[in-house]
Amino acid sequence: MIRINTELCIGCGKCAGNCSARNILICSGKAQVQGECFNCGQCVAICPQNAVSIPEYDMEDIAEYKKDSFCVEPDILLNMIKFRRSIRNFKDKKLTSDDIRMLIQAGRYTATASNRQDCRFIVVQDRLQEFKQLVWDGIGEQLSTENSPLEEFRGIYLRKKKDPADDKLFFNAQAVLIVASNITEDAALAAQNIELTAHAMGLGILYDGWLNNVLSNLPDISKWLHAENKRFGVTMLAGYPAVRFVRTAPRRKADSVIL
Ligand SMILES: Cc1cc2nc3c(=O)[nH]c(=O)nc-3n(C[C@H](O)[C@H](O)[C@H](O)COP(=O)(O)O)c2cc1C
Repeated sequence: MIRINTELCIGCGKCAGNCSARNILICSGKAQVQGECFNCGQCVAICPQNAVSIPEYDMEDIAEYKKDSFCVEPDILLNMIKFRRSIRNFKDKKLTSDDIRMLIQAGRYTATASNRQDCRFIVVQDRLQEFKQLVWDGIGEQLSTENSPLEEFRGIYLRKKKDPADDKLFFNAQAVLIVASNITEDAALAAQNIELTAHAMGLGILYDGWLNNVLSNLPDISKWLHAENKRFGVTMLAGYPAVRFVRTAPRRKADSVIL
């Protein structure tokens, strides 16, 4: 529920005018909340008097806009997108807890459909060896059943068995980051922001569709990952890159329609 501090409110109407749910009215020179909404928080963000709050959220978390705090030159941002690469070779260096916090923030501040904020950010680093073992054992078990949904992974499973360094699911990553969500688009968008932020931090990410597929087909892994009641939206590998690219990678011409 949204709260208006009527002592601070000057009835300017910015919150009401901007509210996509039309949930705020100006009555007798003060903003008044009509009912429940999806708590997008734009009324908090737009109020010049800081008169709006949503107690459900941690209001201490709110940051004030400063002149330069949200500006990135467009060509710098585009360059980041162009120079970002999938990383499949990582240094033997763990992510710090500050690194992890930063990546989670990037995911958490991403837009979600109807402001559902349904994404769970799961980071496996300290227990990575245990996790890998569970995954590979789980694949082995699944492959011993008839019509296994993991049949397409038989090849990489056998290669990994033969040579433990030949690991096409985890490579030599230091951490696995999972965005679990019942809304596929929400997970994908959060993952993209996490990846770009990681890139800006000098970290490397690999979107790991194979591992995501495997996790989605291993019955007990959701519980281990505390991801019950959610789907594995996007699974990523993370770590400090042990590879350095010196130019962008080529792409097909844009398939675009401009009307
Ligand atoms: C949804 C998604 C799933 C992916 N899954 C895998 C994967 O399982 N294994 C892998 O090595 N690369 C995976 N990739 C990385 C792509 O192969 C890579 O993005 C593409 O070749 C372009 O290279 P770039 O990311 O360096 O630009 C995935 C990428 C995306 C977007």
